[in-house]
Amino acid sequence: MSRVAYVDGQYLPHRSAAVHIEDRGYQFADGVYEVIAVVGGCLLDEEPHLARLARSLAELRITAPMSNAALRVVMREVVRRNGVRDGIVYVQITRGVAPRDHAFPASARPILVVTSRRRRPADLRAVDGGVAVITVPDIRWQRCDIKSVALLPNVLAKQRAREEGAFEAWQVDRDGKISEGTSTNAWIVTPDATVVTRQADSAILNGVTRLAVLEIIRREGYNLIERPFSVAEAKSAHKAFLTSTVVELLPVVSIDGAPVGNGHPGALSRKLRDCYLTHAAATK
Ligand code: PDD
Repeated sequence: MSRVAYVDGQYLPHRSAAVHIEDRGYQFADGVYEVIAVVGGCLLDEEPHLARLARSLAELRITAPMSNAALRVVMREVVRRNGVRDGIVYVQITRGVAPRDHAFPASARPILVVTSRRRRPADLRAVDGGVAVITVPDIRWQRCDIKSVALLPNVLAKQRAREEGAFEAWQVDRDGKISEGTSTNAWIVTPDATVVTRQADSAILNGVTRLAVLEIIRREGYNLIERPFSVAEAKSAHKAFLTSTVVELLPVVSIDGAPVGNGHPGALSRKLRDCYLTHAAATK
């Protein structure tokens, strides 16, 4: 089955799908996006993703190119045409095409792109053995709560992680606190068994997976605090893990080469991952 992309009103062969060279997303990263998981052909946590998309658009004063009802139809059609049962949908909205000028164009028409692809099966080595993270300075802007396509600092940090043999880079703000990963939210479990993750301020993206895992933690009755934590605190934590739509929940077993706790995944991250997978399966 050949892949199909939705681009500004048309379903096109993926290999030749394109936007104009003066699309403001291309020239200024003037756009936003969402990545939504497809589970058994259904869209997981569609509501919070659409709510976050609407918020990102509003913060950048980009008009939604279509209603949520219409967007739901397009996303499902792209999933269907690509034969995706388990995978992701990528939704991108830019301010549109206009002669290059930093200020908003007088009459730009926002451009919607939707693609979908199958998910690679979860890497069992990462699930069972955990992953390594490094820490890097957070050099991003002050509105990381907006899911903007401007991801260059994230790209550079993830590449550095790759080159250092790590899975993810945890970004560190000017106060020495960890904000989040390059494409994941960061969590630790303190020696007194309290789960800690940064509160959803403008330094992090309020992950939809983060929200689902917070809900699970509350429901299961674990101690929980949403607050910043330092690199030193993370390094002396009992356990650590990370979350995102793409990787779900993975244990973190080392930070900057030093083991977290005993250097092995714990029962808690396994339990939370299982609860999250149950939550995901319920969407079918
Ligand atoms: N990234 N933090 C950042 C900076 C992210 O880019 C993401 C998601 C997350 C986790 O958000 P969620 O749980 O809603 O996926 C946190 C997506 C998956 C990406 O860019 O591919």
